[in-house]
Amino acid sequence: MFKKFFCFIILLVFSNCNKIIDNTEDKSLRKYAKNSNILIGTAIESIQLEDIKFAETLKREFNYITPENSMKWGFIHSKRYEFDFDRADKIVDFALKNNMKVRGHTLIWHIENPEWLLKLENDTSVNFENILAYHIKTVVKHYKGKVYAWDVINEALEYNRYKETFWYKNIGEDYIEKALKWTHKEDPNAKLFINDNMIEEINPKSDFLYELVNNLLSKNVPLDGIGFQFHLKLNNSLDMESVEKNIKRFLELGLEINFTEVDIETEGELTEEKLEKQATIYKKLMILVKKYDKVTAFTTWGLSDKYSWIVREYDNKNPGLIFDEEFNPKLAYYKIKEILQLP
Ligand code: G3I
Repeated sequence: MFKKFFCFIILLVFSNCNKIIDNTEDKSLRKYAKNSNILIGTAIESIQLEDIKFAETLKREFNYITPENSMKWGFIHSKRYEFDFDRADKIVDFALKNNMKVRGHTLIWHIENPEWLLKLENDTSVNFENILAYHIKTVVKHYKGKVYAWDVINEALEYNRYKETFWYKNIGEDYIEKALKWTHKEDPNAKLFINDNMIEEINPKSDFLYELVNNLLSKNVPLDGIGFQFHLKLNNSLDMESVEKNIKRFLELGLEINFTEVDIETEGELTEEKLEKQATIYKKLMILVKKYDKVTAFTTWGLSDKYSWIVREYDNKNPGLIFDEEFNPKLAYYKIKEILQLP
């Protein structure tokens, strides 16, 4: 009799274990983002996947991954006639295995370019269009059907004009139009974005981008959306009214908006008050994502404060991500979730 009762208790406990685990998982950002048809993403390096707690938090809480560096020219095309897809493949394989989407970052940027390319600068015998087309076709073909959206162009603008980048100087301003067309031809299903910083509010830079985009669309150049990076500093106030007005004008062009590289850096000692203020800005940004159907993704530039470019580059221990160095959710995480849970 006692044996039967004991077995019954064991069975009861085990059968509920899954519910307890399920319940935990069900309360993730990923869960609520899915219900809201929002992509909740983060930028990662392939080496970070070897950190068990990192990988667990990543696949539990997020449904969208951006390779932070491994798809940039300097990493994927460091030798002229050779491509190194290993690091980026690790990230893409992890994402597909865990039913997550991938944002390709980035096919064209003026930073992280390999020596062999920079050495060709001003060499009039070189056909730079061929070099750029060869890179785009090779990389996009390799990730065809695996990359959901591409940052085709990253940070091409300066204030109210084109940044005089390597490609601008060696091909001309229509390198943007050509790159969008080459990318679309190689993977017609991938969504194509122009990604930039300091364009989040209405200002001369976002005005210039608006005119550029309007012009591209009037020529039926394939373009699906704009990436607003949102690298913010806690003490630089963001005019949310101007951000919303800016979002609306780009949406009215039939484009999508993605928040692509969100972090809210805090200076000095991290206080409750600063964490509150940081969480409030995250909340306000998520309110905009939730409010507009065509604002379709929210990506933080790093998963936890343990791994942030701000820590690596500026030695500032407060990069302002939503998980702390031990992968514990910060106040910002709960504020984002609060909005994602809303009907
Ligand atoms: O991997 C090499 C390592 O082998 C080498 O020993 C080490 C020392 O030089 O460098 C390592 O590469 C560094 C890489 O980050 C990986 O840590 C590069 O030097 C460093 O320049 C690179 O910085 C990245 C930066 O873009 C430039 O590519 C940051 O991690 C990355 O967060 C940052 O991200 C950019 C977005 O792409 C575009 N928007 C702004 C954002 C922040 O700057």
